[in-house]
Amino acid sequence: MDDLKIIRDLAQKAGDIMLEAHEIESVQTEKSGDYNLVTAYDVKVQTFLFKELKKLYPDAKFIGEEVGTDSPSPLEKGYSFIIDPIDGTTNFIHGYGISSVSIAMLKDAENYIGVVYNPYTKEMFYAKKGEGAFLNGKPVSVKDTGLNENLLGFGTSPYYRHIPYYNDGTFDILKALYPHCQDLRRAGSAALDICYVASARQGLFFELILQPYDYAAAAIILEEAGGIITQMDGSPISVERPVSILAGNRRCHEDFFRFTEKEQTER
Ligand code: IPD
Ligand code: CA
Ligand code: CA
Repeated sequence: MDDLKIIRDLAQKAGDIMLEAHEIESVQTEKSGDYNLVTAYDVKVQTFLFKELKKLYPDAKFIGEEVGTDSPSPLEKGYSFIIDPIDGTTNFIHGYGISSVSIAMLKDAENYIGVVYNPYTKEMFYAKKGEGAFLNGKPVSVKDTGLNENLLGFGTSPYYRHIPYYNDGTFDILKALYPHCQDLRRAGSAALDICYVASARQGLFFELILQPYDYAAAAIILEEAGGIITQMDGSPISVERPVSILAGNRRCHEDFFRFTEKEQTER
């Protein structure tokens, strides 16, 4: 079985389901009154992916953002999938065109395959451990330039905005970094943000808290593209629990610590 091809094909089909949503009706939110939104399509896409993958990998563990997720640790023997059916749901609801299907496959608890697909732009980012990172068939890699020659991407940890540590922390860091970069970008899909670092569209991306399904697939792609992904204190990331994310090329990753020394000590 060509695992990578299987996952790319399924990501493409999942993306087609996302596009249908806009043809049929305006996207309805299931939860309202706050900013943590979920649509019927988040559930529909995850159900589709779990069902198709389970046919091919019946013994695998499945971790996803929506219902029906296995609770066991992905760090076990055999295959595990870590899936965000729609990363960038708020963008999806508003028809913003920057949302993705994100699928990570681990083999014996090791990174194996990462696929992130944006159906609006038809951009498929993917990587298989040891074989490099690609965008629609073309190799991608990070640049070797500092923050002053790059865009800086960030996420706002929107579901934690009521907690000053996350809210003020995000904007304090941005204030410190803004004078040292070319400009700021907030794309709205962490998975794509990390792939944009992998493909050198931006030099660095950070967010104070993300879930494993937001970054697991893109982390594999970024590492294969020569980039670095750690927590914001420089420690290794985990796919077992939510962590902060700092993803960059080597020079931008170093610049982050150089320019946020004060913010790091105050946090
Ligand atoms: C969110 C997106 C967003 C990031 C949030 C994530 P969701 O995922 O990746 O860019 O800022 O922290 O939770 O909820 O759209 O799957
Ligand atoms: Ca997400
Ligand atoms: Ca999601």
